[in-house]
Amino acid sequence: MSRHLCLLLVLSALALPAQAAPLIIKFSHVVAPDTPKGRAALKFKDLAEKMTRGKVRVQVYPNSQLYKDREELEALQINAVQMLAPSLSKFGPLGLREFELFDLPYLFPDEQVLHRVMDGPIGQRLLQRLESKGLLGLAYWDNGFKHFSANRPLHKLEDFKGLRMRIQPSQVLAAQMRALGAQPQPMGFAEVYGALERGVVDGTENPESNFFSQQMDRVQSHLTLSQHGYLGYVVVVNLRVWRGLPDDIRLTLEEALRLATVFERQIAREDNRQALARVRAAGRTQVHVLPQAERERLRQQMLPVHRTFMPVIGRDLIEGSYRAAAESAPPP
Ligand code: LMR
Repeated sequence: MSRHLCLLLVLSALALPAQAAPLIIKFSHVVAPDTPKGRAALKFKDLAEKMTRGKVRVQVYPNSQLYKDREELEALQINAVQMLAPSLSKFGPLGLREFELFDLPYLFPDEQVLHRVMDGPIGQRLLQRLESKGLLGLAYWDNGFKHFSANRPLHKLEDFKGLRMRIQPSQVLAAQMRALGAQPQPMGFAEVYGALERGVVDGTENPESNFFSQQMDRVQSHLTLSQHGYLGYVVVVNLRVWRGLPDDIRLTLEEALRLATVFERQIAREDNRQALARVRAAGRTQVHVLPQAERERLRQQMLPVHRTFMPVIGRDLIEGSYRAAAESAPPP
């Protein structure tokens, strides 16, 4: 090679911008990839990597692979993981008991009311509370309304008596199960299938997507479409770490998350509908539609939980949610 060519190659190499190693964002969660949360995490990965032109790489760890739900919030606080979407029921044990608002049975009649509360001043106030724990809440993601399941038919209130029911770690959910005469058993999501299989618990509550994707229809003979409560998520990051990101990266990631959130809210309902169709098609679990009169009996039995938790959650948050529901009720 001539000296000129050598010099040219050296000079052109120097002119190339140094390729910085991509910033890694580990996004850990506890559900299957083919659920609303699992799919939205992958959507975020796709958008974030494209929109930052490879400056960020998002590694998604589903199904409690990296951390189970008891550990993942601690991991976020020490920056061992950078993004999570825990269910709203997982913030109570951090001391943020106001989040148990979303666990109250029969508080939200439908998604419209729920979104009005989440996206309005109540939801914003709750997100601000996360900052006291070093967390930043970036978005609310949906799953959907929960249904009871067990290894015996749940056709009426009396059928719940004495059942050991797995719950998420929420005092409201514990009170809800006690109101039905059942025994609440708090347990991490990763343990639920095994506990049902071994008969450590008799039943549980889930939206259809979690029920089907964890194959609970193999270990629960009956599912009752009770739609008695809601399960949703907050996408959280470590406040200090997030604010320390270069502005352009941070703003691009926030835009990617905004788009992933629009996607998530669009697919959640349909994912649950399809999961229920698959449970029915698989034929291992009998699906029971709760008649209106029985649903009303369950509701009446559980409603006193609202009053019990007013001092803990805050009267204004509960009454604000009632107002949101009343505003969307059809005129008499
Ligand atoms: C549960 O523990 O049942 C849920 O929080 C799991 C999830 O993240 O949807």
